[in-house]
Amino acid sequence: MMYAPVEFEFSEADYPPVEYQRKQQYWDSIRLAIFTLVIVAIIGITIGIVAHFVVEDDKSFYYLASFQVTNLKYRENYGLRTSKEFIQRSHQIERMMSRIFQHSGAGRFIKSHVIKISPDENGVNILMVLMFRYPSTGSAEHFRKRIERTLYQSLKTKKLPFTINKPSFTLTSIDSKKMRNLLNSRCGIRMTSSNMPIPAYSSKERIVQGRETSMEGEWPWQASLQLKGAGHQCGASLISNTWLLTAAHCFRKNKDPSQWIATFGTTITPPIVQRNVGKIIVHENYRRETNENDIAVAQLTTRVEFSNIVQRVCLADSSLKLPPKTSVFVTGFGSIVDDGPTQNKLRQARVETISSDVCNRKDVYDGLITKGMLCAGFMEGKIDACKGDSGGPLVYDSHDIWYLVGIVSWGQSCALPKKPGVYTRVTQYRNWIASKTGI
Ligand code: ARG
Repeated sequence: MMYAPVEFEFSEADYPPVEYQRKQQYWDSIRLAIFTLVIVAIIGITIGIVAHFVVEDDKSFYYLASFQVTNLKYRENYGLRTSKEFIQRSHQIERMMSRIFQHSGAGRFIKSHVIKISPDENGVNILMVLMFRYPSTGSAEHFRKRIERTLYQSLKTKKLPFTINKPSFTLTSIDSKKMRNLLNSRCGIRMTSSNMPIPAYSSKERIVQGRETSMEGEWPWQASLQLKGAGHQCGASLISNTWLLTAAHCFRKNKDPSQWIATFGTTITPPIVQRNVGKIIVHENYRRETNENDIAVAQLTTRVEFSNIVQRVCLADSSLKLPPKTSVFVTGFGSIVDDGPTQNKLRQARVETISSDVCNRKDVYDGLITKGMLCAGFMEGKIDACKGDSGGPLVYDSHDIWYLVGIVSWGQSCALPKKPGVYTRVTQYRNWIASKTGI
């Protein structure tokens, strides 16, 4: 009560404008709130839409399929996973699986890999891994039934090259670890850390004479051979759990295995895996003057376990012929300019095979290319392997399986016109490799 008159006095004079101001403020804040809400909604919806496309809510599901094929006769070489017979048959069977599952109602078919072809009284038995993407909320068992149904449907409606004996067909859901273990029985398969296949040309073209590095798991057979105390000397390729294939000239200065270590991973430091070397076998007829038979194998003291990051490459069958201008990839930690330093990050370059006739031309290497050598690069130069890449892999991709076709051996300087890289032609040494390693 005591203050009432004072209050009254003030309010008489000021009330109306304050009221007006308050109203104004009230509407301003409503407007601001609505505006903010709209902006938030727009941002939210945009993020939602982007997320929907970028982060699909799908998960990989793996299955092991086993079935009899009755219109196929077993052949001895099916037992050898690197034989031409096994590879060709596997591709045919994998292609048939794509035909059955692609664009079928059975979800997103990713790929399939034959693991084993074994003899069977009715023909042959096939063991293979199937990979699908499905919404992560579904159950593996539910999808398994769906896959089975799709397959049975195809047996009835599609004309397939192989006759699958329906009662023999079994499909089992497996986890990613089991899948990886099964695939480890096959060489030259690349996978991301989330177990997705790395498609052949996913990789941007990055060059040894250029920029950028490879992603982890892209070249899982690449190794770095290092001399204790002197660091990286050469590249090498993993061809089994214990054997590396490399160039003979890498051991010109030092052949003592105890002085060498091998590392794996896309950087030299830190490496993903490191091993001591227990044995070095240089080709008996290696000639330093002519670079002939520039091939050697090195055995690790303890085996490496295969993973998505460390994996062996396939050795090409001695019958593999690459026509000129075939795309091949070379990888290494070598320098990016002549006489430059070793690179800590692995690099890659796409090059093309060049026929020995062209490579032996007077204006190219003038007869220096022998039948154990393979030229690859470009006549205009620019892209090439270089110092420090020696011993490393030149690989060729066939149906997403990678084959070692060359070993970085020599070249006149690096990336000069008409002076392409010269590689050891691995197919010529297939028997030599087998005689030394049993692979
Ligand atoms: N011999 C070299 C080395 O020791 C590599 C030669 C590759 N040169 C080339 N131009 N492709 O690392």
